[in-house]
Amino acid sequence: MGVAIVPRWPRGKSCDRTQDSLPHSWSVYPTYPLCKEGFDVGTIMGMKIQAIPAVGLVGNTPLLELSSFGAELPEGVRLFAKAEHLNPGGSVKDRAALGMVLAGERSGLLTKGKTILDATSGNTGIAYSWIGASRGYKVTLCLPANASPERQKTLQAYGTELILTDARRSTDGSQMMAKELAAAQPDRFFYPDQYNNDANWRAHFEGTGPEIWQQTGGAVTHFVAGIGTSGTFIGTARYLKQQAAGIKLISMQPASPIHGLEGMKHLETAIVPGIYDPTVADECVEVFTEDAYAMCRRLARQEGLFVGPSSGGNVVAALDVAKGLDEGVVVTILCDGGDRYLSERFWTDEPWPVI
Ligand SMILES: Cc1ncc(COP(=O)(O)O)c(C=O)c1O
Repeated sequence: MGVAIVPRWPRGKSCDRTQDSLPHSWSVYPTYPLCKEGFDVGTIMGMKIQAIPAVGLVGNTPLLELSSFGAELPEGVRLFAKAEHLNPGGSVKDRAALGMVLAGERSGLLTKGKTILDATSGNTGIAYSWIGASRGYKVTLCLPANASPERQKTLQAYGTELILTDARRSTDGSQMMAKELAAAQPDRFFYPDQYNNDANWRAHFEGTGPEIWQQTGGAVTHFVAGIGTSGTFIGTARYLKQQAAGIKLISMQPASPIHGLEGMKHLETAIVPGIYDPTVADECVEVFTEDAYAMCRRLARQEGLFVGPSSGGNVVAALDVAKGLDEGVVVTILCDGGDRYLSERFWTDEPWPVI
């Protein structure tokens, strides 16, 4: 008996590389829920094969209850965290990067042969790198020279070109460099400019927000998230506010300009992202780096959740909010995994017990 493979796409076309080879519904948001279901890609020996492109793995992350914190909370209060570190690129930034790449393709600005260029503290870069590879684009990134070695090595593994900028200027220095390069070579680069791109916050408006609403059955009363580009907070918060006008939206930022919450911005002293909207948050809270580090250790040892400092900062802020309520459902974000920070000292800062 012969083997019959019946491709749905024209021969020679990869199913996940070009927009027009995707079923129509994939070219518009919401991308993620459709991708999760899979669809027929052919038949082998009479058996239907179902598959999805790699980008279909973005989003639809689980909502976790931080149950070990329950004893500290009033009886009617529950604390949850969206496990964004489980995205395929290991961070919440997969959503924004995919949103911006798809928007670039739709607008005609991102075409075959162009290189994706942006400034990033690492996670968006990792997202551009794997999404770029899976869709056939080269990637060049400007990032602060002190971005963790784990991130730099991961980017190199994807074959991404790195331009390291002055660590003292943080991502602000990387932004200036990317802008200059993009202006100098507009035909070579597609410059999404994540700090000023509406597709960034929209990815959360159309993905993270609806997922949280659905996963809590509409019971969420407080949403807490840190500000980097602000896409996660602004997009999710705008969606949730549309569903429930009474919801409280709390943004988090580092308590000082020099801090260890990689990916977060101290807005008073940094270039404020163009997509940031100061009218969205009902309250802005600040978190000290040491408290975020301590929370990372606690999450790892008490909840079995190995996540990075911005996640630690989010949980510090969310726990604080939760402790002040009589009843409510507080949701925050676990932005990336702890393995991206293994070379940092804070995991072992506490002395080992001597037996
Ligand atoms: C580790 C980490 N956490 C949080 C954020 C902030 O997310 P957003 O840019 O959506 O504000 C970033 C952004 O790069 C990040 O890398």
